[in-house]
Amino acid sequence: MVASGVMENLRAKKQRGERITALTAYDYPTARLLDEAGIDVILVGDSLGMVVLGYEDTTEVTLVEMLHHTRAVARGVKRALLVADLPIHTYDTAEQAVASARALVGAGAQAVKLEGGVGRFTQIEAIVAAGIPMMGHVGMLPQNVREEGGYKLKGRTEAEAEALLQDARAVEKAGAFSVVLEIVAAETARQITEALEIPTIGIGSGVSCDGQILVTHDLIGLFPWFKPKFVKQEVDVSAEIRKATEAFIKRTRGA
Ligand code: KIV
Repeated sequence: MVASGVMENLRAKKQRGERITALTAYDYPTARLLDEAGIDVILVGDSLGMVVLGYEDTTEVTLVEMLHHTRAVARGVKRALLVADLPIHTYDTAEQAVASARALVGAGAQAVKLEGGVGRFTQIEAIVAAGIPMMGHVGMLPQNVREEGGYKLKGRTEAEAEALLQDARAVEKAGAFSVVLEIVAAETARQITEALEIPTIGIGSGVSCDGQILVTHDLIGLFPWFKPKFVKQEVDVSAEIRKATEAFIKRTRGA
């Protein structure tokens, strides 16, 4: 299905009350496995920086790194909608945002995502006007983690909830086809989901969002050094890697 069909499908899912599923991938085999398993959306997230490249957070990720990993993921995806993140300082102006988004599309992305609401209206609008589908991202913004001193829950007070609603409305008005709500208080996420026509995709934001997204490494236990509290880990891949490595060492050494 072409990207526009997939996006209409996501909106139709919201209308029917059917949940949207999304996971991250940064390489060919993971992307292919997620795609074959039937996931709706695959995100080449800038979480790449932490779970693959070993940076402290997402603020060191470059466009060159995102392009490299987007190309690898694109080779593995046949069916899901492939979204790629615009890394920090690649969308400071509308012109820069369009150029960066075009580069990601050239690498195989069907849509791009950037962080921010009201303050990013111009960039989102420019990307959409350039014919590139946009996914928004409001709530906790990982690219601001250093200023904020951690991954903190957003939208707990009435004032914060109102500001988030304005952000989400701005993203919708600028033409995005969906919006990620990251670590937003569940009741606020529910209200935003009700207020918007485009689907909300939550991460750590309760069960009322139109869909859910997770960093795949968190879902499968492939990054055991940092585990967000809201994640329900399904398997423990790091334990299996450790076991297999130890077995190989033992067998090779003849112990
Ligand atoms: O970079 C990422 O993986 C993300 C998701 C957490 C939504 O933005």
